[in-house]
Amino acid sequence: MTQRNGFVREIQLPQIHDPRGDLTFVEGGNHIPFQIARVYYLYNVPVDSERGGHAHRELEQVVFALSGSFRMKIDDGTTKSEYWLRDPRKGLCISKMVWREMDAFSQGAVCMVLASHRYDEADYFRNYDDFLKALESETK
Ligand code: TYD
Repeated sequence: MTQRNGFVREIQLPQIHDPRGDLTFVEGGNHIPFQIARVYYLYNVPVDSERGGHAHRELEQVVFALSGSFRMKIDDGTTKSEYWLRDPRKGLCISKMVWREMDAFSQGAVCMVLASHRYDEADYFRNYDDFLKALESETK
């Protein structure tokens, strides 16, 4: 883990390099700060696609660019930041209650996400104002 910024941090995975190619692995209970309940990936993404546009009540995720690159825009309700993912060894760990948007996908980009829970639509905030209101009520 190399960097912290509010509710987001970078996770660096090991790389085994040899003349046949590079190998990176992820171990549950070691590299990822939660039990992995789900893995999903985005592929065949049009370069002008905008994804995300939501926050989660409980879900934590680590996002990787396995191939190509894309931008993650992060907003914890107070501070906005952006990250370019382009290294398959480096994951972006995103806490719960963080608004995220993804764009600027390169041709052929593949995004893999490790998630702390199975899919549950009830865990999503898909409306930004609802997300902000929930954050405000948390801090009251
Ligand atoms: P969504 O999370 O909105 O994708 P993104 O954040 O990449 O834009 O999910 C898109 C659709 O896929 C939505 O209908 C929910 C569905 N979905 C599942 O059924 N299971 C999953 O694990 C995920 C991530 C999404």
